[in-house]
Amino acid sequence: MITKIRTRYSCEEAAAVSDGPLTSIHFLKDVTSVVPGQRVLINGASGSLGSAAVQLAKHFGAHVTGVCSTADIEVVKSLGADEVIDYTQQDFTRMSEQWDVIYDTVGKSSVGRTKRALTSEGVYLSPILSLPLLLHMMATSIRGRKKAKFAATGMKAIPELRELLSEVVQIINGGKLGAHIDRRFPLDGVSRAHELVDTGRKRGNIVLAISP
Ligand SMILES: NC(=O)c1ccc[n+]([C@@H]2O[C@H](COP(=O)([O-])OP(=O)(O)OC[C@H]3O[C@@H](n4cnc5c(N)ncnc54)[C@H](OP(=O)(O)O)[C@@H]3O)[C@@H](O)[C@H]2O)c1
Repeated sequence: MITKIRTRYSCEEAAAVSDGPLTSIHFLKDVTSVVPGQRVLINGASGSLGSAAVQLAKHFGAHVTGVCSTADIEVVKSLGADEVIDYTQQDFTRMSEQWDVIYDTVGKSSVGRTKRALTSEGVYLSPILSLPLLLHMMATSIRGRKKAKFAATGMKAIPELRELLSEVVQIINGGKLGAHIDRRFPLDGVSRAHELVDTGRKRGNIVLAISP
């Protein structure tokens, strides 16, 4: 289910917005700056960060390719993706296509394997830090093409986060972004909620309802 939030928010919707959309706007606007016409690939397009990233990249005017499994193709199309790659059928790192930005929201690709799928000035974004990513970031930080970038959105200063959040809210109010809520759990269902998150298969967000 896609919940389009406009001017009124439930607590559940507001909680969902504070994770995927906030993180992905940071990556697509600040860590790199997506501009109209760029080709952007979102790996993990059905997850929390990914479902927000597809919508945000479209909002910034990019041509968007979402990567997900067969079951999520229609969901990712409904988010606005121009093209969808089913990762159970095709490996985007082995295709002849190239992208200006590859944002691997779930850390399932490797920066090494992904290099050939990047244009010469392309950028690889990851919200998950690993040793190979760190080494590649160091190697390309001063000179070198096909840079890799990591950021921890939660480490940003509160005023900067507020500014990003207010931009997210404006985009939501304009109808260009919605929080994708997969399941809701009561507070005493927190362990079941964690079990679902740990499967790595949730769609969008899982929320806990604190009050009845
Ligand atoms: N750096 C930061 O600031 C920051 C902030 C927030 C989160 N994070 C991190 O970002 C990561 C992503 O978080 P998230 O909540 O967005 O993840 P998530 O929602 O749990 O991701 C689940 C999604 O990933 C898809 N998926 C699983 N295997 C895949 C594969 N091989 N290829 C493509 N898609 C695949 C699943 O779809 P299928 O079931 O269809 O496979 C599912 O929809 C987490 O590691 C989190 O800790 C970092």
